[in-house]
Amino acid sequence: MASDFVRNLIADRLGGKKFDDNTCEYKFTKIKREKEEALIRNPNMEFIDMGVGEPDAMADEGVVRVLSYEAKKWSNRGYSDNGIQEFKDTAVEYLKKVYKVENIDSNDEINHTIGAKPALAMIAQVFINPGDIMLMTIPGYFVTATYAEWLGGKVHKLPLHKENNFLPDLDKIPKGIVKKAKLLYLNYPNNPTGAVATKEFFTKVVVFAKKNNIAIVHDAAYGVLVYDGETPLSFLSVPGAKDVGVEIHTLSKAFNMTGWRIGFIAGNKDIIKAFRIIKDNNDSGQFKPIQYAGQYAMEHPEITENTIAKYSRRLDMLVSTLKGLGFKVEKPKGSFYLYVKIPRAIPHLRVFKTASEFAEYLITQKGIVTIPWDEAGHYVRFSVTFLAYGEKEERHIMEEIYNRLKNVKFSF
Ligand SMILES: Cc1ncc(COP(=O)(O)O)c(C=O)c1O
Repeated sequence: MASDFVRNLIADRLGGKKFDDNTCEYKFTKIKREKEEALIRNPNMEFIDMGVGEPDAMADEGVVRVLSYEAKKWSNRGYSDNGIQEFKDTAVEYLKKVYKVENIDSNDEINHTIGAKPALAMIAQVFINPGDIMLMTIPGYFVTATYAEWLGGKVHKLPLHKENNFLPDLDKIPKGIVKKAKLLYLNYPNNPTGAVATKEFFTKVVVFAKKNNIAIVHDAAYGVLVYDGETPLSFLSVPGAKDVGVEIHTLSKAFNMTGWRIGFIAGNKDIIKAFRIIKDNNDSGQFKPIQYAGQYAMEHPEITENTIAKYSRRLDMLVSTLKGLGFKVEKPKGSFYLYVKIPRAIPHLRVFKTASEFAEYLITQKGIVTIPWDEAGHYVRFSVTFLAYGEKEERHIMEEIYNRLKNVKFSF
């Protein structure tokens, strides 16, 4: 075929000549596709989607109003390059107010980003040369690691286990790896485990980074989504953090603004300087009215309060529903995820060797969408961002889950 040669030109990082066999399909896209296929097979099945972590609510009315107002101004029409100063000033104030981070300079220690995801891709471009090692916790959000590999780097994985409160054991990393590592990616509150970090842990991270010359990237995507008396914790609030790393924030989760694509990166001056150069060569900045709307959101952190109350309530409901079905689960301290160990089997019927098998069973047999994680133990992740209007509908969904699973005799 005339166009076949094009396929042969695809880069090796995407599979080269073998490209097209879905091996590098993004994990969540794959789940979405599996769900669509299951829907075609069972058109009458009503799916309960606890898969992709995307808030079910709209952005606050005030945020929408600012966007609409600012979008009408001629002065806001163009490229924003590395962003408007007002957004950075507000982000610095937000860090102070919400996280008690006092010492970020709004000129050269912060930059807006088009959400967290591209920032995580760019941070790999800041650090990784071929052969360099980056450390990342698993299970986890793979964007920086994927990019590091694409750039010829290597990823050393640090497993997160319940016994260590889903924090990595930095003392267990082989010395040879520590010596060669350049970058450590952390994410707390953690996706998918829901664990939060502690000041002691972050202090240890700073010591580790200084001792071993390793830069830290902390992904605070779920920063404010914490429950039951837990307070939001920033890596930058720990003394010395700014000497060794940066933190990435996004308005996606805290302000129901996933599609808006706005966030920021803050911390070490040199990293921010390098990041700006990379960013300038990747994008031309977020639309200014979106930055102004984001500014409004950060000036109203109370917007998040209702969202936190909603997720907390839903997590309580889900925990008690799953407990009633025999699962051993605990409410997480943060994020909107419940990380659930899979059952071993349905005796005499089937065995679940992996979380992928269990997740597929839940989708195809029970119409319940979860995300499987097999990287450090076998777990599925339920996200409480499922679509429901109010407590009554949420209860209905919980009853539905209970009814669909109550007659299945899982062994754990
Ligand atoms: C840990 C983590 N970081 C970053 C992101 C991406 O956030 P954004 O919407 O700002 O790109 C996600 C989204 O699911 C996430 O789970």
